[in-house]
Amino acid sequence: MNIDERNAIYNQAKEWVFTAGKNIRAKIDDPLVIDTKSNPNDLVTTMDKETEAYFVEKINQEYPEHHIIGEEGYGDKLTTLAGTVWIIDPIDGTMNFVHQKRNFAISVGIYHEGIGEIGLIYDVMNDILYHAKRNEGAYKNEAKLAPLKQDVKFEEAIIGMNHFWLCENRLVDEKVMQQFVRKIRGTRTYGSAALEFAYVAEGIVDGYLTMNLAPWDIAAGIVIVNEVGGVTTDIAGVTLSMLEKNSVFTCNASLQHEIIQFIEKGRK
Ligand code: IPD
Ligand code: CA
Ligand code: CA
Ligand code: CA
Repeated sequence: MNIDERNAIYNQAKEWVFTAGKNIRAKIDDPLVIDTKSNPNDLVTTMDKETEAYFVEKINQEYPEHHIIGEEGYGDKLTTLAGTVWIIDPIDGTMNFVHQKRNFAISVGIYHEGIGEIGLIYDVMNDILYHAKRNEGAYKNEAKLAPLKQDVKFEEAIIGMNHFWLCENRLVDEKVMQQFVRKIRGTRTYGSAALEFAYVAEGIVDGYLTMNLAPWDIAAGIVIVNEVGGVTTDIAGVTLSMLEKNSVFTCNASLQHEIIQFIEKGRK
């Protein structure tokens, strides 16, 4: 993918994201049809499906040779990241969308031969687009995001994570995680993985730790966080696969080693 091609795809993707966002805002007070997926708290609405179907239709029309991975299944069943792949979460934070009508995002990551080239995370209700192209910096609307501070101390870190880390879980001894939350300065839970990545990139939280995310939750976020010098791996420090679910730790690079070492003490 050359720079001109990438710019054209980026501009097109941005336009579709804004149009999809506008449609969601216009219908935000319409009655919702809500279904559940893997469990009673795993929600999906007609708006999730409509939004993904919109992207898939547009991409197939404009770029028939591109591939699509989408949460709601309108895309392709891919076993490789060869070529250009759009990785789409039409609404990230569906629970927030349903219960709060805010704090959700459209997330679009565009990868070429496995490398993240474009990341778009659109906070729909606040009309804020976090966006990046590889090696060209990250932006919040028109403002360029500063490189992350390189001297954040463990004791002063705010980490995005939810309460499940403090309950018995399959990944890490909860006692170690209880020590962890006492050691850091504070925790935050926003309920949208994409927005948590955006907040790491913005430097308003120092890391985001999560047990089980799919490629569409993180594809855009990784590109954006990379551009400000952040790093993303699983909780053991291993590079993530964009074709399967992973535990995820994205953070300010100055914290990565120390936090991974800490978690390692309780990792199962
Ligand atoms: C979910 C959100 C949530 C995270 C879940 C994701 P969805 O995505 O990102 O914050 O904790 O693991 O599945 O289903 O609302 O797109
Ligand atoms: Ca979902
Ligand atoms: Ca999601
Ligand atoms: Ca979703």
